[in-house]
Amino acid sequence: MALNHTTMIEPIEHAADILSKAKSAVALTGAGISVESGIPPFRGKGGLWEKIDPMKVAHIDAFLDDPATVWNVLIKDMKTVLDTARPNPGHAGLVDLERLGILKTVITQNVDGLHQMAGSSDVIEFHGSFAWQSCLDCNRSIETSQVDLAQIPPRCSCGGILRPDCIFFGEMIPRDALVRSQQVSAACDVMLVIGTSATVQPAATMPFIAKDSGAFIIEINPEPTPFTSRVSDLPLLGGAGSIMPRLLKAIRRRLPST
Ligand code: APR
Repeated sequence: MALNHTTMIEPIEHAADILSKAKSAVALTGAGISVESGIPPFRGKGGLWEKIDPMKVAHIDAFLDDPATVWNVLIKDMKTVLDTARPNPGHAGLVDLERLGILKTVITQNVDGLHQMAGSSDVIEFHGSFAWQSCLDCNRSIETSQVDLAQIPPRCSCGGILRPDCIFFGEMIPRDALVRSQQVSAACDVMLVIGTSATVQPAATMPFIAKDSGAFIIEINPEPTPFTSRVSDLPLLGGAGSIMPRLLKAIRRRLPST
């Protein structure tokens, strides 16, 4: 069945019905929600991992073996892109849902800080954050905006090498982030899954935890993912930046005017 504009309206109206009655919705977001902010995804068309092998530049062993290469090939470019990136209507839509008392928490796999910049107040950074760097020797934290890239790899005042506070492949998810994400997923009545390819664990377990606890799963992605056939109750096929404003409009039509 070909999806067209007419077909699109219905799912959005259905999603608005569900969300307008939700009391404790949670969002799980991935790189896709930041694509319309100019940050490339990791997989699929124009994905970063289509160009560079993640095991060579985004695995902790690769970083510890050769931090200069990882800084040069990956981190410097990430800094340039993230320095100028700004939230888009996808991020703003989640802030609106929070202000309407519908959304409680955002679990994000993104390290770009755009949810917080948009105004989301409860964000679990499941894969850490690029906003800070830590010294491998003295563990001192330095704001990424303060890091001098004249020297690669950049160094701490103690002489130690700096690494971003993002979770590299081969590293554990911070315990607080993991436990809290499992708790809010088990407690939510609706989970909005936005812009993730559902390929990286353990983040990809959260919709299943939510579903097993009775939650309704709404997925927003221009393409079907492994979630679409396995856990999503309602896929909305399209970009987050165009779907979220239409979803909020449909939800507001259903809420008593304040
Ligand atoms: N709106 C919504 N979704 C989009 C958009 C958009 N405008 N553009 C692309 N997408 C979808 C793609 O179809 C894809 O399914 O976003 C998804 C992005 O998938 P990935 O690039 O694999 O990103 P993600 O799922 O967040 O990756 C998980 O992998 O590389 C690691 O640590 C990294 O956090 C990352 C993790």
